[in-house]
Order: sequence, then structure tokens, then C-alpha cells
Amino acid sequence: MAHTSSTQALPASPTVPRHVAIIMDGNGRWATSRFLPRVAGHGKGVEAVRAVVEACAVRGVEYLTLFAFSSENWRRPADEVSLLMRLFMVALEREVGKMHANSIRLKVVGDLSRFDTKLQAMIDNAERKTAGNTAMTVTVCANYGGRWDVMQAVQKMLAARRAAGAAGTAAAEQDPDVFSEDELAQHLAMAYAPEPDLFIRTGGEQRISNFLLWQLAYSELYFTDTYWPDFGAEELDKAIASYQQRERRFGRTSAQLLEQAS
Ligand code: IPE
Ligand code: IPE
Ligand code: MG
Repeated sequence: MAHTSSTQALPASPTVPRHVAIIMDGNGRWATSRFLPRVAGHGKGVEAVRAVVEACAVRGVEYLTLFAFSSENWRRPADEVSLLMRLFMVALEREVGKMHANSIRLKVVGDLSRFDTKLQAMIDNAERKTAGNTAMTVTVCANYGGRWDVMQAVQKMLAARRAAGAAGTAAAEQDPDVFSEDELAQHLAMAYAPEPDLFIRTGGEQRISNFLLWQLAYSELYFTDTYWPDFGAEELDKAIASYQQRERRFGRTSAQLLEQAS
């Protein structure tokens, strides 16, 4: 799993983050401040997604991860939840063709079992259709929670060990109580991606809200008051510029980094 500990190693080039992860927050407040219903903000938010996907692709970002619906968002009023689901379906229907034409791979991660079967099938189709694309990977986190992710990874790891035990392979000989970060991390929902270099949260709140808990260990954090529907290429560039000012030390000292660079 060379991928999983990317944020612990010094990146070769700090210019463009390889992986950008975004909590798209502030849709409701964007709408309310315009005396519009909250749902209007979600609709406008989909347009911002389109703009940011495009801007990331142009800038050479390899992985873009978007938090669309958290495991806690079911607590919202039923009509808002069902509208979000509908919007998700409409956006999939409309955007997947375009993404495919631009060689973008789409992944949807989270506990999808709670979604209706039609939406699950659409997600499955979209993922299959775009699976071979290489320009950029866009991951939508839907009914996702960082704690859910770690828990399901532990369950999968234990199941893999049991299967290895049943098959009598060499892995079965491991001490059942000993496992490494790498062994667990291979079972995280986004094991296919390096850890985020840059985390962005729009909408003014400065919290993680149960997003990628494991993977954000060493990401650079960027918070902006801009509401998600107003976020676009220009705002993305501000976040990247801020990222470029950071010194990623991963526990080392500045002097060590200078030494390594020379
Ligand atoms: C983010 O915007 C979108 C989702 C959580 C689905 P919000 O809907 O949380 O907007 P605010 O935070 O209420 O303004
Ligand atoms: C986080 O936003 C989840 C998404 C953007 C999908 P919320 O608006 O739900 O976060 P909290 O509950 O205010 O922390
Ligand atoms: Mg919010």
C-alpha cells in the first residue's frame, strides 16, 4: 500500500496538491441570506461542484474528494434529505457522461446500503463506466462518516484474516492480535487514493464533522467563510496558494527539511 501514507512522506513537488478533499458547507445559509429556500442552495451547490471539478482537472489535481452527505445528515428534515437524494440522482444522470468524456473516474464512497436501490444502481453504473479513466479521480462521499470508515475497515480486515485462515495461507500464521496501520488502511473506503494533501472547508465552520478522520492526520487545513455555492476556481486558487506557503514537516524540523532539499 504505497498509497496510504503519502502525507507522511515529503512530497516531490509541493506546487499542486495531488489530493484535495472538500467539505462543501454553507448551501443552506447561502440560500437563506437571499430569502430563498435551503434547497435552492443545494441546487446552486451542484453548479459549484461542476466548476471545481473542472478547475481541479485543469490544475493537475489527481484526486478530488467531495463530502456530499454525512452519516449525520439523515437527522435533517425528511423533505430536505429526499431532495438531496433526488439532486444526487439528477446530477449523476447529467454529469457522468461529461466526466467520462474528460477521462474522469468517479467513485462514490460511504454506506450506500441505506440509499434506494435505483440510486445504488446508478452509482454502480457510473463507477463501472468511468473505472478505466485516468485524468483525475473524483470521489463523492455519500452517507459517509470517518468513524464508519474505520469501523468497516476493521471488520473487513478481520474477515480477510479469517478467510486467509480458512484457506490455510501463510497469512494465517500471523499473530491474530497484531496488525499494522498499513494492513488496516488497505481496507479503508478510499484505499485507492493517497491521503489528502489539502483539506478545504467552506461556510465558515472550523470542524471536521466526521469526514476522513484517519486520512486527514497530516493534511494541510484551509477554512474559508465563503459559502459553497460561491466557491469556484478563484477561491480554489486562494486555497492552493495558502497550501503552497505551508511547510509540511511531518514531525521533522525545518533544518532537516533544508538538509534534505540540498
Ligand atoms: C452543505 O450545506 C450541504 C450538505 C450538508 C448536504 P448545508 O446544507 O450544511 O448548509 P448550511 O451549513 O446549513 O448553511
Ligand atoms: C458536513 O456539513 C457534511 C457535508 C458537507 C456533507 P454539515 O453542515 O452537515 O456539518 P455540521 O453538522 O454543521 O458540522
Ligand atoms: Mg452545514
